[in-house]
Amino acid sequence: MLDSEKPIGIFDSGLGGLTVARAIASVLPNESITYLGDTKRCPYGTRSQAEVRLFVRQVGAWFAHRDVKAVIVACNTATAAGLDVLQSSLDVPVLGVIEPGARAAIQATRTRRVGVLATQGTVSSGSYPRAIHDLDAGVKVFQAPGSVLVEIVEEELANGPHLHQDWMSDKQIFDTPAVNAVARTAVEPLLGKGVDTVVLGCTHFPLLAPEIRHALGEDVMLVSSAEEIASELRETLRRRNELVGPAEAAKGTAGEPLYRFATTSDDITGFAVAGSFIFGHALDSIEHVDLDGIEALPDVPGYEA
Ligand code: DGL
Repeated sequence: MLDSEKPIGIFDSGLGGLTVARAIASVLPNESITYLGDTKRCPYGTRSQAEVRLFVRQVGAWFAHRDVKAVIVACNTATAAGLDVLQSSLDVPVLGVIEPGARAAIQATRTRRVGVLATQGTVSSGSYPRAIHDLDAGVKVFQAPGSVLVEIVEEELANGPHLHQDWMSDKQIFDTPAVNAVARTAVEPLLGKGVDTVVLGCTHFPLLAPEIRHALGEDVMLVSSAEEIASELRETLRRRNELVGPAEAAKGTAGEPLYRFATTSDDITGFAVAGSFIFGHALDSIEHVDLDGIEALPDVPGYEA
């Protein structure tokens, strides 16, 4: 198989990364995708860095046998805990979501005061402030841990009166008093700090963008990594001459893209229903995988938590 014909691998702790997969499918509509959601062990955001790093190494071992042409770590918490180990071990480009989100924030801010709303794990890792300061040392960064927002999205996805819909078709879909109250509490550390831009540093947060914006104030700009990483991936594949495109069209092999999904969840139906709500297409091909039993990729020599 030509490298360009191989799928793009996308990984998340669960369903939330389908917001990233959706952005990638929209920017690169000819590309096939193999998506892995570690739903059984979600959330990652309240676990230790060491535990998430082990999970990332197991996921890396799974992708190592999947013949993908790139791996996207759609999960911010996993990017913070273990992007480096995947990049060191896999022989394809591995892109994480933190650097693209940081870049979008410094491009957008006028006050040069940026907020980061992310899981507890991502906030504790300090990865966003580091990535932002690597790009612009003069930007002031304020962080707010928002794992509580992950919980409320998961609850909504599990109980799902709205799941027959597509979340993009009704942006107010999560607009309930309970969700708004949680959003107000979560953004509290960012209020009064003069931030004009807030990074949605978690896969679940684009789903709650209207409620988060409302809690922050309507003039605050929200940026998310999803669109940014999709453009970065397109550029990476273009430079490597690995986009599905003219070569396949000339050979007549550029068929419909294949979307394959894998989950560690035992509830495949639940994954399919909530997944299509987020991804915007039916999830036709879903495989169950057991990551607990997989031998993890070795860690980077000399790595210390
Ligand atoms: N996918 C995670 C992230 O983007 C959020 C959910 C979790 O805590 O696992 O950080």
